[in-house]
Amino acid sequence: MDKLVIEGGVPLSGEIAVSGSKNAALPALAACLLTAEPVTLHRIPQVRDIRTMLDLIGHVGAEVRVEGGRVMICAGHIESPEAPYELVKTMRASSLVLGPLVGRCGRARVSLPGGCAIGARPINLHVAGLEQLGAEVRQEHGYIQAEAPNGLQGANVQFDRITVTGTEDLLMAAVLARGETVIENAAREPEVADLAVLLISMGARIEGAGTSTIRVQGVTKLRGAEHTIIPDRIEAGTFLIAGALTRGDLTVRGCVPEHLRALIAKLQQAGVEVTEPAPDTLRVRVPGRLKNVDITTEEHPGFATDLQAQFMALMTQAAGISFVTETIFENRFMHAQELARMGANIRLEGRQAIVAGPTPLSGAQVIASDLRASASLVVAALAAHGETVIDRVYHIDRGYEKIESKLAGVGARIRRIQ
Ligand code: EPU
Repeated sequence: MDKLVIEGGVPLSGEIAVSGSKNAALPALAACLLTAEPVTLHRIPQVRDIRTMLDLIGHVGAEVRVEGGRVMICAGHIESPEAPYELVKTMRASSLVLGPLVGRCGRARVSLPGGCAIGARPINLHVAGLEQLGAEVRQEHGYIQAEAPNGLQGANVQFDRITVTGTEDLLMAAVLARGETVIENAAREPEVADLAVLLISMGARIEGAGTSTIRVQGVTKLRGAEHTIIPDRIEAGTFLIAGALTRGDLTVRGCVPEHLRALIAKLQQAGVEVTEPAPDTLRVRVPGRLKNVDITTEEHPGFATDLQAQFMALMTQAAGISFVTETIFENRFMHAQELARMGANIRLEGRQAIVAGPTPLSGAQVIASDLRASASLVVAALAAHGETVIDRVYHIDRGYEKIESKLAGVGARIRRIQ
């Protein structure tokens, strides 16, 4: 199993580039199943979750061609609208094919995802939404079996709670449903809006994506299209935090500052100087001491849960007590214990982590438990004295493209060992 070895203590400096968004690319790839014509997607990050989704799309019978960050998909004929357990168990976002497959084929069989390190993460809201569009859904043998032999029928769907992939799944089902669908309490994440841009270029009629009410007028058929995925705001945020934590001077290029407003505000409160030298560029420096700041994770445009672990690592170096409250997932503090092994002073109380800083960080052997927890260990290791060895880096490979070479390019001493 691969490990990352990081010799910390080097301030990151220079320019680092952001890849395409994993969480926007996943639904975009699933959307390709909605048309028999070819779709070309640009800026697809080469990470493990994307390879899993490409395997899944190939499994249902689509042709897939990958040329670097460009992916061409042609789902001329869907042989088996089925997502098997072997693929779904490695990536929960596989459930994103449920909506498009029912919309296009009138039936789908998708394995239920199992447990997850960060919380239970059921897909009941995806299923309830599809039922409201007229699908008959049964659960048997660990699979969701959805059928709509006469096609889906538009409806008003109000989500009980905000769900990102649930909104995306239902949006993809609704574009080929008869009549109007209104999705209320929809997720407002930029990844949902990006999916809508792709679907609209395929001929879908959608209004309001990126707000909490999305209106869809169903069409009978979608066509091929070409689309460029938005930059990864979580990768960009991880780099900004790494720059601040190592007290470097780091320029993050190719991002959308608008997608990072909540993080930027918190960084500034913590005493980090954040500037926008160009419309797609952010630069961080730390002129004085880092100050303690409280964060509470929320749906977009609030503070992203996917940046909570990395921000907690930053707060270990801030003077005073910081409260980190996680409201999206019930078990997303696995990094706290590993950070404590590196010298952090963190107490967990239910959904709250209380971080007392600053305490010096020292390199240690640590274990990555999920994607963003691994990212927090990487940023902490970059700032720690001595060597950190991070085990189970396959978690980080799920979502960060070329992490070692990107960080090495701005001065990090980082290498991968087997
Ligand atoms: N939920 C339900 N029922 C459902 C769906 C969700 O109870 O049917 C609950 C979840 O258990 C959770 C909350 O609702 O407590 C919100 O979950 P959501 O559905 O929004 O999460 P997701 O769509 O499964 C996406 C990202 C996650 C990110 C969350 C929250 C993708 C592929 N994944 O997950 O990204 O943390 O939204 O922003 O878009 C990551 O990249 O590391 C990652 C975990």
